[in-house]
Amino acid sequence: MRPFVLLVASIAALGGLLFGYDTGVISGAILFIAHDFALGTKAVELTISIVLVGCILGSSVAGPLADRGGRRITLLVSGIIFAVGALLSAIAPSEDVLLAARLIVGIAIGFTSVVAPLYISEVAPAEVRGAMVSLYQFAITVGILVAYLVNFALAHAAAWRWMLGLGVVPGIILVAGMIFLPESPRYLFKIGLTDKARDELRRVAGHAEIAIEEQAIVESLAIKTAGMAIFATPAVRNALILGFSLAVLQQVTGINTVIYYGPQIFQLAGVASNNASILAQTLVGSVNVLLTLVAIFFVDRIGRKPLLYAGISGMFVALSALAYAFAQTHVAGSLVGIALASMMVYVGSFAYSLGPIVWLLISEIFPLEARGLGMSICTLGNWLANLAVSLFFLTMVQALGASVTFGIYAALCIVTLVVVWRGVPETKREILEKISLAPGARAAEATR
Ligand code: BGC
Repeated sequence: MRPFVLLVASIAALGGLLFGYDTGVISGAILFIAHDFALGTKAVELTISIVLVGCILGSSVAGPLADRGGRRITLLVSGIIFAVGALLSAIAPSEDVLLAARLIVGIAIGFTSVVAPLYISEVAPAEVRGAMVSLYQFAITVGILVAYLVNFALAHAAAWRWMLGLGVVPGIILVAGMIFLPESPRYLFKIGLTDKARDELRRVAGHAEIAIEEQAIVESLAIKTAGMAIFATPAVRNALILGFSLAVLQQVTGINTVIYYGPQIFQLAGVASNNASILAQTLVGSVNVLLTLVAIFFVDRIGRKPLLYAGISGMFVALSALAYAFAQTHVAGSLVGIALASMMVYVGSFAYSLGPIVWLLISEIFPLEARGLGMSICTLGNWLANLAVSLFFLTMVQALGASVTFGIYAALCIVTLVVVWRGVPETKREILEKISLAPGARAAEATR
């Protein structure tokens, strides 16, 4: 692999690290924030979820911003917003200021969640694109794990301000990285800076592929960037329906109840101390990282669909076990063990399937002229669904019980399996522009 490509992907993946850190850190911090600011259930749900409101705002403008200002500048600005938000959360004197700070951080996460995968998929050569976008997901999981470890290290001091404030570090690294990295060649061709685009392409593509890549890009650029009207084309509309469904299903199968509320689930299962529940959460975070590596190695070899089938089935089994365990009064003693095992299997299964592959497919299924907007809409759907699940998780557990709540997520795994089976195309090793042009070509055929 060319070192330059690796460098580009690693720096862009720093966006993922931030994304992970800033969403994961709240799971431990909330135990102490709730105590310091005397928060009730609703306020706890809001403190965890407000970041997602920011994500929704950020991701809804990210596509158009990245199309207008460029991918690089948008990522750079995200880094600055991250740093400001992290600092403000660290010094927040009241719950209201904390909510505002988390909202700001959320906006940066929203930007990054659209632009980082876009940037990576545009600069990475076809044969490693899957691995590169998975690398982004890997960075998210590393960010989450780092947050859990920081939480664990600082738990004895109840130092939630430091937990949140440390997000400033990767923010600054992202800014520094994006100052030195190139703009995406596809974007440069698009805005007419052809010479500069060729220079950048030379840095990312091997000699053999430069001509092929350029031709593919230029051909696809001949089709003008479209507005919402493009989604009237049946094939593009189908891509949107598929991408949006996958983005929503990735959330409503419950992943972030574990990622954000894990320590509280452990306490529900009978773990007594904050420290022990945060420690258990670091195990879940480690499994998340390790099994994301599996996706990186196999996504371009085995392909997307087999990994999705295996992973979603594993999630179903683990959630069913969790639902069953919470329903049994007589297993109370061993509930902690069952909860820990199920949550590890669940997160592990997600980590090599729905986690990375949903983001990957979303970056692959749209034709270029609809890609920015299409990815933005799907990502928005992902955040909306995440908000809905996270904002009502504790309320659902209180109203329906933990068993029914996890049972609902298990049932939604079955829906997801059906969507994958019926809707997902196998895209391993396809040149991006070919995937993009295929639906258009099919649409043209259909109207003939
Ligand atoms: C999801 C996040 C989730 C993370 C967990 C991502 O793919 O979009 O919502 O927190 O995976 O690793």
